[in-house]
Amino acid sequence: LLMFKKSNMKIKILKKEEIDRVIAEEIITLINSKNKVVLGLATGSSPIGVYDLLVKAYQNKEVSFKNVISFNLDEYLNIDIENKQSYHYFMKEHLFSKVDIDINNTHFPSEENYLKYDEEIKQNGGIDYQILGIGSNGHIAFNEPGTMFNEKTHIVELKNSTIKDNSRFFSSIEEVPTKAITSGLETIMQARKIVLIATGKNKARAICDLIEKEKTTLLPASILKDHDNVVIYCDEDASSLLTKQIA
Ligand code: F6R
Repeated sequence: LLMFKKSNMKIKILKKEEIDRVIAEEIITLINSKNKVVLGLATGSSPIGVYDLLVKAYQNKEVSFKNVISFNLDEYLNIDIENKQSYHYFMKEHLFSKVDIDINNTHFPSEENYLKYDEEIKQNGGIDYQILGIGSNGHIAFNEPGTMFNEKTHIVELKNSTIKDNSRFFSSIEEVPTKAITSGLETIMQARKIVLIATGKNKARAICDLIEKEKTTLLPASILKDHDNVVIYCDEDASSLLTKQIA
């Protein structure tokens, strides 16, 4: 007898501007309601709109990041943090240099700290609010298909397809790092609340599998089915392959 646990994942289909607004408002409310907030942050195109709204809210004095602690999901290995393609640089450009966050309160996994990264998150009280994007192959952070669900923060060899995808940001494919350090799926699952942003047609297959199929390591994001506080935010395009009606 197979018993499938019913997933608590919520799915919301909205326009991208609405997704950004809802998530930014939740984060602002959270920051303003607690002494100390721990955010789990992603890079990539998906969260940029949210970061832009957080910067605006800071400029309008609606929120301060003085008591915010952040843990980023991932970073390349052997990349200079001043390199424009590094995730350090991305975060500085889109958020950290534009708000009053204490840079000492921002964290990235590195070759030096990765074995202690999960513990460091715990020591800071755990992640209150985790933002995720999703790869077209269902990856979250750099957890590619086949990653064990119980992995903590670890070093990964990037797949050729990922190196090729990322090469558009570098002047040549040789410059693309071949390894990265990523939060594991278990690391991500420890967050108290998780939001995943998926927009565009190239995310539609992964979103359909995530919502309509069973949990499998072939679709790393499907571990989120076991979390009891996840919202999947999709735009029309990313939800276009769903066959079931969403209430
Ligand atoms: C980035 C990250 C990645 C991206 C994913 C989607 O920190 O963890 O898993 O979220 O590759 O990327 P975008 O948002 O560029 O489509």
